[in-house]
Amino acid sequence: MMYEGGSGKLHFLKNDAMLNRILLLFFLLLGTIFSFGQSKNSPKNSMGASLYRQYCMSCHQEDGGGVPRMTPPLTGTTYVTGDKKRLITILLNGLNEPIVVQDEEYYNPMASFSFLSDQQIAAVLTYIRTQFGNKSTPILAQEVSVVRKQSTTKK
Ligand code: HEC
Repeated sequence: MMYEGGSGKLHFLKNDAMLNRILLLFFLLLGTIFSFGQSKNSPKNSMGASLYRQYCMSCHQEDGGGVPRMTPPLTGTTYVTGDKKRLITILLNGLNEPIVVQDEEYYNPMASFSFLSDQQIAAVLTYIRTQFGNKSTPILAQEVSVVRKQSTTKK
C-alpha cells in the first residue's frame, strides 16, 4: 500500500514537472513574440517619434490633432496618408498656401524641413503615416532622396 501510494505521488510529480515545462515554454514563446513585435517597430518608430516631438509636436500637437484655425491636424487628411511625393515635398519645401483639412481652412505657412536628412524625413513621415489612427505605408529614405533631387528648391 505504501509503495503504491509513493509511486502514485511520483507519477503525479512527473506530470507536474511536465506541465511546468510546457508552461515555461509557452511563456518563453509569448515573450519572444512580444519582443519581436517591439523590435520590429521600435528602431524606426522611436526615431520618428523623437523627431516628431522635437520638430512637429509644438504645432501639430501630441495627438496630431493640430490647433483649430492655426495648424491643420495630421489625421483625416490625405496630405499625410496619400501621395508620398506630395507629402515629402511639403517637408522639403514647406507649405504656404491656403489648404482645407477636415472642412477647416488653414492659412498659416509652414517652414521647410529640408535641413533634416533623408533618413530623418523618412522616419518622421513614416511615423505620422502610422500614428494617430493613420494606417498608411512607410516612406523610405531613398524615396525622399529622389524627391529632393527632383525638387526645384533643392538644398
Ligand atoms: C510652426 C508650426 C509648424 C511646425 C513646427 C510644423 N508644421 Fe506642419 N503645418 C503647419 C501649418 C500652419 C500648416 C498649413 C500650411 C498651409 O496651409 O500652407 C502645416 C501643414 C502640414 C501638413 C499638410 C497639411 C495636413 O495637415 O495634412 C503636413 C503633412 C505637415 N504640416 C507635417 C508636419 C511635420 C511632419 C512637421 C515636423 C517635421 C511639421 N509639420 C511641423 C505648421 C507647422
